Amino acid sequence: MVARLAPSILSADFALLAEEAARIAPVADLLHVDVMDAHFVPNLTIGPVVVESLRRHTDLLLDVHVMIEDPDRWALDYVEAGADYLTFHAEATDDPVGVARSIREAGAKAGLALRPGTDAAPYLGMVAEFDLVLCMTVEPGFGGQEFMADVLPKITAFREAIDAAGCETLLEVDGGINPETAGRAAAAGADTFVAGSAVFGAPDPLAAGRAIKAAADAGWAA
Ligand code: DX5
Ligand code: ZN
Repeated sequence: MVARLAPSILSADFALLAEEAARIAPVADLLHVDVMDAHFVPNLTIGPVVVESLRRHTDLLLDVHVMIEDPDRWALDYVEAGADYLTFHAEATDDPVGVARSIREAGAKAGLALRPGTDAAPYLGMVAEFDLVLCMTVEPGFGGQEFMADVLPKITAFREAIDAAGCETLLEVDGGINPETAGRAAAAGADTFVAGSAVFGAPDPLAAGRAIKAAADAGWAA
C-alpha cells in the first residue's frame, strides 16, 4: 500500500487558502476540506462558494468532508463546487447508499464518515458503495484534539470488509493524526491520513507531512 496524506485546511490560515494549498501541495495526495454547519457539529466553517474558489486555485484532489445535517439535500452543492471526494456522515442520513449513488452520478467519489462512537456493523456489507470510508478518531468539530485509540478495532473491521469485497475503497482516518498515531492507524489497516494541526502547526509542514507518511509505511510493515 502507498500511504496517502490529506492535509486538513481547517488548521490553515483561512484568509490565505490558495497559498496554504500551494505550500502543502508537494506532500499532499488530497486536500482535506472540513465543512461544518453549526448543527451537526458545534462549529461553523465554510460553504460551497469557498470550495468553488479553492477549486480554481489548486489542482490537488479536494477531499471534502461535510459535517452537516441533511446531506441528502446539500451534498451535491459541494460536488458542483468542485469536490473530487464528497464524504458525508452516516449519522446524518437514513439512506447512505442513496446519497452515495447520487454523489457518484453527479461525477464525484462518495465517502462515508463515522463518528468515533458509531458502530461499523451496519455499514460493513455496503463498503463497495463507497469510494472512501472515513473513521473519525476524534469527535468531529474541531482540530487539535487527541487521537482516540479505541477506534482502532473499527478500522480493522473496515479493512477486512474492504479486502473481502475486493473493492478499491480508501480507508481514511481523521483526528489527532501525527507520526505516532498514523503508525498505529496504518497497522490497524488505514491507508489515507488526514492531518491538520500536525502539519499546518509544524515549523516545517512539508517535513511533518513526510514524517506522517513514513510512519504509516512503517506501521504497515510492522
Ligand atoms: C475535525 C476535522 C478534522 C480536523 C483534524 O472535525 O474533521 O479534519 O481538521 O484536525 P487535527 O489533525 O488537528 O486533529
Ligand atoms: Zn475532516
